[in-house]
Amino acid sequence: MIIGIVAVARNGAIGRDNRLPWHYSADLKFFKRTTAGNAVVMGARTWESIGRPLPDRLNLVLSRRGDVELPAGVRLLRSREEVVEFAAAFDGDVFVIGGAGVFSSVKDVIERWIVSHIPEIVEDGDAFLPEGLFDGFDVRDEFDLGEGVTVRVLDRQKPGE
Ligand SMILES: NC(=O)c1ccc[n+]([C@@H]2O[C@H](COP(=O)([O-])OP(=O)(O)OC[C@H]3O[C@@H](n4cnc5c(N)ncnc54)[C@H](OP(=O)(O)O)[C@@H]3O)[C@@H](O)[C@H]2O)c1
Repeated sequence: MIIGIVAVARNGAIGRDNRLPWHYSADLKFFKRTTAGNAVVMGARTWESIGRPLPDRLNLVLSRRGDVELPAGVRLLRSREEVVEFAAAFDGDVFVIGGAGVFSSVKDVIERWIVSHIPEIVEDGDAFLPEGLFDGFDVRDEFDLGEGVTVRVLDRQKPGE
């Protein structure tokens, strides 16, 4: 399954200066245990921000230009179609982990969203969740992580629902 996973502030901000504008260890641990053993797809800017492969996961970097330097074991994908092809062949879940540009360009192929709601307003954010990202999705689960963070899991509505 192709799953989008994101942490978002109350005003829709997801980043500032190519970094996460907050630190919530409960959410980082949740992200780690949710994605472990699977594949993570990230945009070239998010790759640059993280600066290293995330351990215990197959790391894939999305770039049209393709001029990113990647260490052995990290794979380059050039388009949304390549994400879909990869997911069809991969024995596990494919987590699209951001950032904003990637969420916009792959949103149509995401079947589930896992959204951590961060209890802050980030006034000077410069990366935001695209409008309407969760249209056509229903909440199937909701739980607290502690530190004021709530997670919502949303599944794409099936045709006819
Ligand atoms: N809160 C969260 O959960 C979260 C998660 C991740 C990131 N973030 C934040 O988001 C911000 C970064 O987001 P961003 O929008 O600037 O950058 P981004 O989405 O990480 O990367 C954008 C780049 O990805 C490539 N790309 C995007 N769509 C593509 C497609 N369909 N096919 C091929 N390549 C594609 C392009 O790379 P090329 O230019 O190389 O072609 C594009 O310039 C940072 O602040 C980061 O901290 C937040």
